[in-house]
Amino acid sequence: MNDNLSSLVGEAQRLFAVAADAATLENAKARYLGKNGLITERLKTLGKMTLEERATAGARINDAKQTIETALEARRAELAEAKMQAQLDADAIDVSLPGRQRGMGSVHPITYTRQRIETLMRTQGFAVADGPEIEDDFHNFAALNMPENHPARSMHDTFYIDNGLVLRTHTSPVQVRWMENHPPPIKIIAPGRTFRVDSDATHSPMFHQVEGLWIDRDVSFADLKQVLVEFLRLFFERDDIRVRFRPSFFPFTEPSAEIDMAFGEERWLEIAGAGQVHPNVLRAVRLDPEQWQGFAFGMGIERLAMLRYGVPDLRLFYENDLRFLRQFT
Ligand code: FA5
Ligand code: MG
Repeated sequence: MNDNLSSLVGEAQRLFAVAADAATLENAKARYLGKNGLITERLKTLGKMTLEERATAGARINDAKQTIETALEARRAELAEAKMQAQLDADAIDVSLPGRQRGMGSVHPITYTRQRIETLMRTQGFAVADGPEIEDDFHNFAALNMPENHPARSMHDTFYIDNGLVLRTHTSPVQVRWMENHPPPIKIIAPGRTFRVDSDATHSPMFHQVEGLWIDRDVSFADLKQVLVEFLRLFFERDDIRVRFRPSFFPFTEPSAEIDMAFGEERWLEIAGAGQVHPNVLRAVRLDPEQWQGFAFGMGIERLAMLRYGVPDLRLFYENDLRFLRQFT
């Protein structure tokens, strides 16, 4: 009995000593002190003993139990201490680590493109103007030589609001607003959001245009070409850009052209519409077309970004997929 008990105690002490974590230790404890534990079983035998036997056996078993409990407490304390130390080590300040920072956002590629356009056009002497995104019929259409029922209105798949208001379908109304309020000479660009019922790889229902307007005594179509080609050289940072001016029609310019840029192997992407401001537009803002003339253009900002970054589908700009956007930071 005695030997047996002391080897039990020794076994328990060894088991506790090798228990590497609290769960293992508590399992080991159950083996001796649990409901059916080895020590508990011994205590249960006391009832069947004579009074005398019980006194000595009881004392010994309780001794053993206490020794085991002491060993258990000591190991519990050790494990708790070790756990805390590990926690402290893990949390310890490593001065070689970079500091924690709030995640840094970055400018959206379209915003960045707009800002570059503004900077580059300023170097060519254009001031930056803007106008409302919600427009009335007069500024979006009528003053631009598109009276009601003019067939050219159907070129624009318009988002109508009500009371004759629309989400502007192009930035050209800013031409009108600016000329209403500023006497020539005028030399502005007006970047901003525009809206059309449109959606495919090169058309988005919300997109950006940058309007250009240069009005003076003798600003010609040659100046238009010069300004645009110079801008594109600066924008794409190369001299060998391939552009074509394709004859086209806009009610508010005459002559009119659409401008395409080459990419890949002889593939062309339209980037802008342009032309000499139509005399009727000048008349609508009470300017004398005999005295004033000039050009206007409307360029697609997404289209420029697509060409510069090689993005095949402009809808990628608006999906907010960080894997895409992070490539521009
Ligand atoms: C216009 O909007 C005319 N206001 C341009 C203009 C201004 C002509 C001044 C003459 C004088 P257009 O519909 O072609 O024209 O659009 C101009 C450019 O905007 C296009 O060349 C294209 O680059 C871009 N664009 C047009 N629709 C979309 C769209 N849904 N998504 C993305 N870009 C578009
Ligand atoms: Mg067009």
